[in-house]
Amino acid sequence: MSARVLIVDFGSQVTQLIARRVREAGVYSEVHPFNRVDSAFLAGFAPVAVILSGGPASVLSFSAPSADPALFEAGVPVLGICYGQQAMAAQMGAHVRSASHREFGRATVEVVAECKLFEGLWEPGGHYPVWMSHGDRVETLPEGFQAIARSEAAPFAAIADEERQLYGVQFHPEVVHTPGGAELIHNFVRRIAGAKGGWSMAAFRDTAVAQIRAEVGGGRVVCGLSGGVDSTVAALLLHEAIGDQLNCIFVDTGLMRAGEAEEVTGLFRQNFNIPLVHANAASLFLERLAGMEDPECKRKAIGATFIEVFEAEAARLGGADFLAQGTLYPDVIESVAFDGGPSVTIKSHHNVGGLPERMGLGLVEPLRMLFKDEVRALGQELGLPERFVGRHPFPGPGLAIRMPGVVASDKLETLRQADAVFLEEIRRAGLYDDIWQAFAVLLPVHTVGVMGDDRTYEQVCALRAVTSADGMTADFYPFDADFLGRVAARIVNEVPGINRVVYDVTSKPPGTIEWE
Ligand code: XMP
Repeated sequence: MSARVLIVDFGSQVTQLIARRVREAGVYSEVHPFNRVDSAFLAGFAPVAVILSGGPASVLSFSAPSADPALFEAGVPVLGICYGQQAMAAQMGAHVRSASHREFGRATVEVVAECKLFEGLWEPGGHYPVWMSHGDRVETLPEGFQAIARSEAAPFAAIADEERQLYGVQFHPEVVHTPGGAELIHNFVRRIAGAKGGWSMAAFRDTAVAQIRAEVGGGRVVCGLSGGVDSTVAALLLHEAIGDQLNCIFVDTGLMRAGEAEEVTGLFRQNFNIPLVHANAASLFLERLAGMEDPECKRKAIGATFIEVFEAEAARLGGADFLAQGTLYPDVIESVAFDGGPSVTIKSHHNVGGLPERMGLGLVEPLRMLFKDEVRALGQELGLPERFVGRHPFPGPGLAIRMPGVVASDKLETLRQADAVFLEEIRRAGLYDDIWQAFAVLLPVHTVGVMGDDRTYEQVCALRAVTSADGMTADFYPFDADFLGRVAARIVNEVPGINRVVYDVTSKPPGTIEWE
């Protein structure tokens, strides 16, 4: 097994970023809640290094979460970040106090001693920008430690006991606002812990293939394809592992974008020779959606119909033992509750919720330890064409949630055409990869226009394009006026039924990305 780093989570909002930085240093890492990590867990996990995350609690509070002492006796390097530093220092006898001068946001540290953590990065006497977010601070050094950096509000902004390989930083090296942070984490896992750093998508591919084979044995697997990058990559990986034990089902809801169904089925059949059932259920979906206006009703009807169609197709294939899903790591990380208490909230996201239990299937989730950008890299590794690798996300309920009001086939056609024009112009302008998601929305509003000498009374199309890191928060994309004017002119001229175009400039929050 390759070297792995254990990240002990104390509930910071940015713990996942630590895992990403370690993986970027070429070393595999996993996040586990602090209250799951004891000596038995450590023995099983066998980390080459441990990183203690930040967290919202105060070590001064009665119920402060603490790190299992076994962590400091395991003989592997430990790096405490923010709360992690305070917890480590306090557990080793240091004084931690509530600082009179809190530091939130940008701060500067002065390096006061040489340390392996800073090798090739920061020099003694130098001042460096970092990102801080703390109220408490370490006031006295635990035995064996020395200060290696200080800031205005933290005399021990970084501390080290090089002999025992214990390190602590008050700032957050995992965020991009600490410019040297990624390198500091690289130093910790590569130079200090001595991890070799061969972890890459090529290495992951081999391990994952072996794991899938062990997990599935001679069983049969069905995989629901949505056309998105996650389920596509999951299917490619499974096919490599188990060949024709895999069957893919593409439920065509009729709510897809222009040319999408053909693109997905073509990719699988022509490029990869993977057997694929194309279940064309467009009319069934339209029937079930008839007369429905409420967004939640539409979503629920689509979800239920999807399960029904998928189940019937799987039965037609002779049943299966496993259902494969493209679940990603952010959906499976168990996050620590905000009070830092022992209760954990488990986020469990199933793309086709309810199906595995209902069909009595085991679950195979080969991407469950990967982040989205890693899935894209794996897709490239598996030969997935660039056009698919970088695709914008598309919601399961499809165009139905992009037309407030009832769903009808003529409206779907109108929306498809407008959406295709918008995306074509975005690609032509070279903006596609700068945007998280871009799409058209067909509004149930008619306005008066004039075309030639005629009065028109047609629908309004809203354009939505956002930037985002993860879909949780988003900003509208600042197109220039020329671009928007060009798209609006083309849509009004080329798409029958639309005579006005507006641009949505709402961020999330308070808006959401989709309109319904
Ligand atoms: P919202 O609209 O909640 O969307 O800001 C956030 C992200 O999630 C996508 N989305 C969905 N994806 N099934 C999906 O697979 C859904 O039901 C669904 N609803 C929203 C949305 O496109 C955006 O990327």
